[in-house]
Amino acid sequence: MPLPLALPTARLLLRPFDEGDARIVKELVNHPEVAAGILNIAVPYTVQDAEVWIGQHHAARDSGEEYVFAVTEQSGDLVGATSIRVNAEHGHGELGYWIGNAAQGRGYATETVGAMLEFGFLGLSLHRIYARHLAWNIASGKVLRKSGFGYEGRMRGHAFRWGSYHDIEVYGILREEYIAGFLDRKE
Ligand SMILES: CC(C)(COP(=O)(O)OP(=O)(O)OC[C@H]1O[C@@H](n2cnc3c(N)ncnc32)[C@H](O)[C@@H]1OP(=O)(O)O)[C@@H](O)C(=O)NCCC(=O)NCCS
Repeated sequence: MPLPLALPTARLLLRPFDEGDARIVKELVNHPEVAAGILNIAVPYTVQDAEVWIGQHHAARDSGEEYVFAVTEQSGDLVGATSIRVNAEHGHGELGYWIGNAAQGRGYATETVGAMLEFGFLGLSLHRIYARHLAWNIASGKVLRKSGFGYEGRMRGHAFRWGSYHDIEVYGILREEYIAGFLDRKE
């Protein structure tokens, strides 16, 4: 079965980014509280950075390397982004996500992660999905635990950001754990 291009949830639509999204991505990512939580992005983040990033999505999806979705509300407003970067050899994927500051605290990240787990395990047939966050990012850890991930440990001093080294927390979920939870939720 072909992979879905868009993932609907109860309140959101996860869909491919297009060039026209670059300006709003730049605005959302440049909010200090959003930029602070994202590993590996340029700060400040420009419209051109966003255009280059969006321009890579199509090829990454075609090669099976990475699947990136814009997180949008039913109104069509873009509020965030999410991705799974696949390691085909090991059958695992790294999940990433961010939600713009104004839309945080509504459960959108949790809803997004739920859709991405279904996509990763049922669509891509991955064996494992993991996610990492900066140790101070309590909200991100909460999203992962609420979504069924298990805490796997701390990578000490793993990320160099803003002139210092930061600890990274690692969470993971295996396919069988997801399937067991999925069946429980259906009952
Ligand atoms: C982390 C992030 C994705 C959360 O998005 P969100 O849509 O607000 O998340 P949700 O509403 O689904 O859930 C957040 C949970 O964390 C809780 N929370 C938020 N801030 C918190 C804090 N400072 N301390 C403790 N809990 C906090 C919320 O109350 C909620 O838990 P609850 O449902 O039990 O009440 C968002 O803040 C974000 O994008 N931040 C910047 C980028 C980032 O950190 N990305 C993740 C990188 S791994």
